[in-house]
Amino acid sequence: MIPKTMCGAVTGLALLGTELAHGHVISQPGCGGLHIPISHSDFRIVSTKFTPVFNYTSVTGFDFCNVSAILTHPGSNDAVYTELWLPLTGWNGRFVATGGGGLVAGFESSLPPFVKEGYASAYTDAGLTLNNTIDPSTGAWAITSPGHLNNALIENFAYRSIHDMTVFSKAAIKAFYGSTLKYSYYSGCSTGGRMGYFAAKHYPDDFDGILANSPAINTPQVSPADFWPSVVMANSVAPPQCIFDTYLDAIISFCDATDGVVDGLVSEPSLCHFNTSSLIGQTVNCSSPDAEIQITAEHADVIAKTLQGATSTTGEFLWYGLAPGAPFTGLADTVYVNGSVIPVPFSSAQFWIGYFVDQDPNAQTATLTYEEFDTAFYRSVSLFTDILGTDNPDLTSFRNKGGKLITFHGLADPLITHWGTTRYRDRLQNKMGGAAEVNTFYRLFLAPGVGHCGGGTGPNPADPWAALTDWVEHGVVPHTLHANTSTVSRNLCPYPEKLQYKGRGDVNLASSFHCVASDGSKYKSGS
Ligand SMILES: *[C@@H]1O[C@H](CO)[C@@H](O)[C@H](O)[C@H]1NC(C)=O
Ligand SMILES: *[C@@H]1O[C@H](CO)[C@@H](O)[C@H](O)[C@H]1NC(C)=O
Ligand SMILES: *[C@@H]1O[C@H](CO)[C@@H](O)[C@H](O)[C@H]1NC(C)=O
Ligand SMILES: *[C@@H]1O[C@H](CO)[C@@H](O)[C@H](O)[C@H]1NC(C)=O
Ligand SMILES: *[C@@H]1O[C@H](CO)[C@@H](O)[C@H](O)[C@H]1NC(C)=O
Ligand SMILES: *[C@@H]1O[C@H](CO)[C@@H](O)[C@H](O)[C@H]1NC(C)=O
Ligand SMILES: *[C@@H]1O[C@H](CO)[C@@H](O)[C@H](O)[C@H]1NC(C)=O
Repeated sequence: MIPKTMCGAVTGLALLGTELAHGHVISQPGCGGLHIPISHSDFRIVSTKFTPVFNYTSVTGFDFCNVSAILTHPGSNDAVYTELWLPLTGWNGRFVATGGGGLVAGFESSLPPFVKEGYASAYTDAGLTLNNTIDPSTGAWAITSPGHLNNALIENFAYRSIHDMTVFSKAAIKAFYGSTLKYSYYSGCSTGGRMGYFAAKHYPDDFDGILANSPAINTPQVSPADFWPSVVMANSVAPPQCIFDTYLDAIISFCDATDGVVDGLVSEPSLCHFNTSSLIGQTVNCSSPDAEIQITAEHADVIAKTLQGATSTTGEFLWYGLAPGAPFTGLADTVYVNGSVIPVPFSSAQFWIGYFVDQDPNAQTATLTYEEFDTAFYRSVSLFTDILGTDNPDLTSFRNKGGKLITFHGLADPLITHWGTTRYRDRLQNKMGGAAEVNTFYRLFLAPGVGHCGGGTGPNPADPWAALTDWVEHGVVPHTLHANTSTVSRNLCPYPEKLQYKGRGDVNLASSFHCVASDGSKYKSGS
């Protein structure tokens, strides 16, 4: 893809409410010289740049105006990069804000699928690249110097920059097209999913519809808890991959039927209680290292603790473990090098401990004791609950203004357990009048066998985006969410309803299942 530029890039300084200083305005639908009036916000536009891009991507080329800007919050000394793509032809009247992943606030690669379909779409770096000087995924942006958090960037990451990007984008869209936006949406997964929940809570008027999958909510707890399996292995043994693979297969076969049907999927992980000791003594044929390895009590203990989840030295529950049936490769990955097996931590969790908790670029995270892990966990919760916590959810304003929120969360998510999402949802239901009331604006679909943001062996939600836009624009309630692989289909049920096999029919077909109430008693006709 080599974008050709019709006019030279127009770069310049735009202060709030002032005209850009450039006379060179391209004939409509051109790209440049745009005056973007913004008032009542806490940021200032430092610079803007407009570049037309034609025939983007070779397959189905599309043309757009690439509007980029650097924003700053006076007093914060931040440089927040924001990029908005405006279709030059065929704009569908809609805007989609996109979110990030891990410790990154957003990606340009999120935009093409939307812009190709006629949406205006934007992402932001939230200032985390420090004006394009660092890779934000390391989390190094979280401190200004050792021992000092960068509170401005943490606030940007939490919720401020998605909002600012949306304010900026809506103003630019109005200036560019001269007509009002029909619908405003948000799309994100993982950290992006978490950002969607934060938008609903903090800025309920920003979006009509929010798709927020596999959300990294409960960040103060999840981030250190995702490091737990590495701590366990550092204090015991790092099993080779073949041991994990053997356990995963054994867990899936043992628990497959507990949800009422043998279909290769663990659809109710909370009913799955696999005895990890039962494999001790079994010999596994491994390739890396190339040897026959006998499963030991230490191996079994690593698996048990990974499934159990982070636990304090005094035995208290800290956070949920991996769902049985989810691959171990995300949080309990290992690699065989130079004759020994060593843990490969989930990098975002490791960086969280180093930069957010220890606030030390040289933190020795690989050798944490259980006591040190306890301290890190409690410190994470105490430092970040105010800004990034979700223990006390309330989406009343979002509901009242008619917003709609859809989430799917894979039951085989190797990075973020679905139990944190159902915990949030249960708390919200308690606060907002029960499941039926919450279902009027927010639906959560748990997806058996599905990984983080998709993938995995289970049927993946086929088109959650269409479910969201149909709900927002046509009032079509997503009673179920269709999911499939090439051979297996399911109509996923809105939590707390559950998928149940009807007792006859092809286990690969959605039509052989229906939705039942959470206690399994009440048949809800699949709708
Ligand atoms: C768009 O790009 C593709 C691949 O580079 C090229 O084959 C096609 O001719 C281009 N279309 C236009 C209208 O320029
Ligand atoms: C959009 O503009 C920004 C700023 O100039 C640039 O970094 C980015 O690569 C552009 N994107 C495309 C697809 O041209
Ligand atoms: C960001 O970096 C660019 C390129 O080095 C520089 O010209 C610009 O002044 C910087 N902007 C801010 C706000 O720091
Ligand atoms: C787990 O399996 C081990 C070994 O087979 C057995 O000794 C133990 O009693 C089992 N534990 C439970 C709770 O069933
Ligand atoms: C282990 O795998 C190798 C290579 O596939 C095979 O030759 C060997 O017989 C296997 N051993 C066992 C005990 O299954
Ligand atoms: C493996 O050993 C080689 C040679 O000693 C060394 O250069 C390399 O860093 C080691 N790799 C790891 C991952 O320890
Ligand atoms: C899943 O179903 C959708 C809609 O029916 C279809 O377009 C898609 O190709 C299917 N996906 C797979 C992997 O078969």
